[in-house]
Amino acid sequence: MGNPAFIVFEGGEGSGKSTQTKALTNRLRKVGYKVVPTHEPGGTALGERLRRWVKWGKAITIPTELFLFLASRSQLVKQVIRPALKSGKVVICDRFSASTIAYQGHGRGIDLSLLESLDDFVTEGVKPDLVLLMDLEAEEGLIRKKRKWDSFEREEFGFHQRVREGYLKMAAADPERWVVIDASLPEFRIAELTWERVRDFLIYGKVSTSPATSSP
Ligand code: TMP
Repeated sequence: MGNPAFIVFEGGEGSGKSTQTKALTNRLRKVGYKVVPTHEPGGTALGERLRRWVKWGKAITIPTELFLFLASRSQLVKQVIRPALKSGKVVICDRFSASTIAYQGHGRGIDLSLLESLDDFVTEGVKPDLVLLMDLEAEEGLIRKKRKWDSFEREEFGFHQRVREGYLKMAAADPERWVVIDASLPEFRIAELTWERVRDFLIYGKVSTSPATSSP
């Protein structure tokens, strides 16, 4: 059913992207869409190994970190995303290129135009049709993480604030593709808001520009 679509969840730590990826996948499947859920870094055999290195490796330099994320993305685009879109499926990815702009660009301070060129190189022009930003105060997201913190979660608070601001800038610059969702709302409410936006997008081919942050 339907045309191929590439939907991406983005957001800072603890913003609930993985839960919402699952909820949206189930909902779309229920109404007959063929859906491929995936995530970054990871989603392929090599990508999963890179994920472990980048999250738990010691003394990884900033350029090494960047190239590990890009390597994982290249594998995912080639092995999973492109083939799925080609066969008419809906791909839902937990993080994609905007994570690199937010974390390595706004967070670490790498030049944004350099990141954009490198990202274009690895994605070969594959861009999300719709980006759902789970927006949350950096502090609240970190408090939600109860298990052992990985190398990103252990970053100073200012890093997480810059990541959040970076995401909000990207969303403001591209309202045709980005939807900002208030991730402090209850899970079921976020799922509803997400579903409304995705349904409109799949039916009408564009996102509605009214804010998706209303209370229940
Ligand atoms: P996650 O499972 O919490 O999404 O872990 C992935 C971590 O990697 C998260 O802290 C964000 C970070 N990340 C980057 O810094 N750059 C990237 O390009 C991607 C995809 C993730």
